[in-house]
Amino acid sequence: MDNVNGRYGRGFTLWFTGLSGAGKTTIADIVERELREKFGKIEVLDGDIVRTNLSKGLTFSREDRDTNILRIGFVANLLTRNGVGVIVSAISPFKAARDQVRREIGDDFIEVFVDAPVEVCAERDVKGLYKKAYSGEIEQFTGVSDPYEAPAAAELHIHTDEEDKEDSARRVVAKLEELGYLSRVEEYNRA
Ligand code: ADX
Repeated sequence: MDNVNGRYGRGFTLWFTGLSGAGKTTIADIVERELREKFGKIEVLDGDIVRTNLSKGLTFSREDRDTNILRIGFVANLLTRNGVGVIVSAISPFKAARDQVRREIGDDFIEVFVDAPVEVCAERDVKGLYKKAYSGEIEQFTGVSDPYEAPAAAELHIHTDEEDKEDSARRVVAKLEELGYLSRVEEYNRA
């Protein structure tokens, strides 16, 4: 296809990883709205929702989290190779599982690290889960009593404690533009 760098009209997976409460879903929602206008075919896979159907019954053990991530990655890959723009929001705390999905999807995998210090997430405590995690009522809670392996080479690193959410979302869309997913060559030439 005639475009800037061969990616116009190709599917992609935007993979938002980060702690609970870091802002993955918030930013993904804004990005989704933008992309529905600019791209068209968009699907969203959110960990909280996937765990009510595709991954129903899975726990938060490392094994089950990895299973969850590989399932999400499997679906994301099918959609991506059929030209859909996929937005994934899942803690996805383990690097090996994220990297496995990256290998499966290839160049169309775009990792976005949604970063905020655990203290900030706990202070926000939108779902009231950090309180329960610190009191021990919830075990194996990411960032409190379970590990989070931060990405070392994400395509984008967003600091939600320092950056406005609209600005963060704009940076995500700009990254897709930079990679050539959104702009036809004619538009590129006109600019
Ligand atoms: S992942 O680790 O498998 O990627 P996923 O994104 O699907 O996690 O689900 C995370 C959501 O489950 C959190 O946002 C939170 O609402 C809820 N949750 C419940 N228990 C835990 C826990 N032990 N650790 C992290 N999140 C938990």
